[in-house]
Amino acid sequence: MLTAIVMAAGKGTRMKSERPKAITPLLGQPLTRYVLQALEAAGVAPIIVVVGHGADEVQRALGEQYRYALQAEQLGTGHAVMQAVPYLPAEATHVLIAAGDSPLVTPEVFRALHETALQTDAACVLATAILDDPTGYGRILRDAAGNVVGIVEEKDAAPDQKAIREVCTSFYCFRADALRDALPRLSNQNAQGEYYLTDTIGVLAASGARVVAWQSPDPTLLLGVNTRWELAQVGHALRTRLLKQLCLEGVTVIDPATTYIEPTVRVGRDTVIEPNTHLRGDTIIGANCTLGPDLYLQDCTVGDRCHLFRSHIIQARIDAEVSVGPFAHIRPGTVLHTGVRVGDFVEIKNVEVGEGTKVLHLTYLGDATIGKRANIGAGTITCNYDGERKHRTVIGDGVFVGSHATLIAPVTIGDDAYIAAASAITDDVPPESLAIARSYQTIKAGWVRKRRESKKGAGGNEP
Ligand code: UD1
Ligand code: CA
Repeated sequence: MLTAIVMAAGKGTRMKSERPKAITPLLGQPLTRYVLQALEAAGVAPIIVVVGHGADEVQRALGEQYRYALQAEQLGTGHAVMQAVPYLPAEATHVLIAAGDSPLVTPEVFRALHETALQTDAACVLATAILDDPTGYGRILRDAAGNVVGIVEEKDAAPDQKAIREVCTSFYCFRADALRDALPRLSNQNAQGEYYLTDTIGVLAASGARVVAWQSPDPTLLLGVNTRWELAQVGHALRTRLLKQLCLEGVTVIDPATTYIEPTVRVGRDTVIEPNTHLRGDTIIGANCTLGPDLYLQDCTVGDRCHLFRSHIIQARIDAEVSVGPFAHIRPGTVLHTGVRVGDFVEIKNVEVGEGTKVLHLTYLGDATIGKRANIGAGTITCNYDGERKHRTVIGDGVFVGSHATLIAPVTIGDDAYIAAASAITDDVPPESLAIARSYQTIKAGWVRKRRESKKGAGGNEP
């Protein structure tokens, strides 16, 4: 039986943050979640997560599907694993151990470690990588025959050891009996005064147990995050990987360098993503859409054949063949039905807009229900807030709202009604009627000439 221990108790001192490193957001997800998801995808269960710094917060963010072991004081990675051992099921024959700060790991890495452990019957298989710059990592020590004999941490390494480019990546597959045997033999007599998990390798090798290095063909899969600069680099690699996967599934990404798509997002085939597009959270995009340039979408559902660009859209449902942009702000609770068109400088909040309705210029719609095929003229405002409460505006099918109308809620406009431009509508408008609510225009013929003459008579100051 294969189980796993994920170490996530550390503070992450080098991140220089108030937040525990394990829940640092990376493309919208807590850092350690990527490691847990890779283990789950490899079919490993149960997973024991070691928490300590900010334990409650970390546990809440990662979810209740895992077993949690508390490491109250962070005395090192070896000490972290000691806290998890009592939670291992008795039937566990092999234990995968992973650092919670290495989010690029894939299920294949875990499978390869386990398979190598089974094939070689090694006490431990450890994943190593050859890095151009090994700074900060533990270095792999081998004997003249090439056998792994130990790991030396950067802070404990002699100058010649620092030149070693093969590093420990903090991914291991231990035989459960070997792990239980090695842990009590660790000491904390080292530069950091910690119980290093890495020392189990030297302990096992010295006792004649078999230790095998599994060298990753792609070292980037095993990179860890200790600083925010590493977070940025690992984030870039993860983002690129997700974009590549989308492209292979039939999505066109014009410029991967400026496209931000979180792993929770789904995009349909033949959709084209223009530069500077951000798709976040629980967002689902249909097929044959064109998104961007300059688009931000969070927690939205978008149907097929939509064209959304240069706009900010949050928690909205957008049906098929809708166009939005440029410069629209669509806020939570909005539903745009099929064929709706939203144009520039339009803000919509908590509004249902019926099929085929147009809202093309300079408009605020809040807390409203709008029917099908309505035309909302330039500069329309729903006055939904009286300073204390919000009120609804209801606009029927086929309504024509003239430019610069002010609709003072609560108010209902019946089907096919017309609202004259510049009206301030305070009362309900029955269907098929015209409402005009403005003062009529007066013409004062010759007013300018009369004014000029009266000024002259009074000795005005004209040149
Ligand atoms: C560790 C390894 C190093 C390796 C590197 C790979 C040790 C001693 N060193 O160093 O050889 O090259 O990972 O990324 O193992 N943690 C706990 N409790 C603790 C200390 C750490 O749970 O008391 C957790 C951290 O939250 C983190 C992980 O263990 O998720 C690794 O700890 P970190 O301090 O990042 O170790 P590195 O210095 O990177
Ligand atoms: Ca680390």
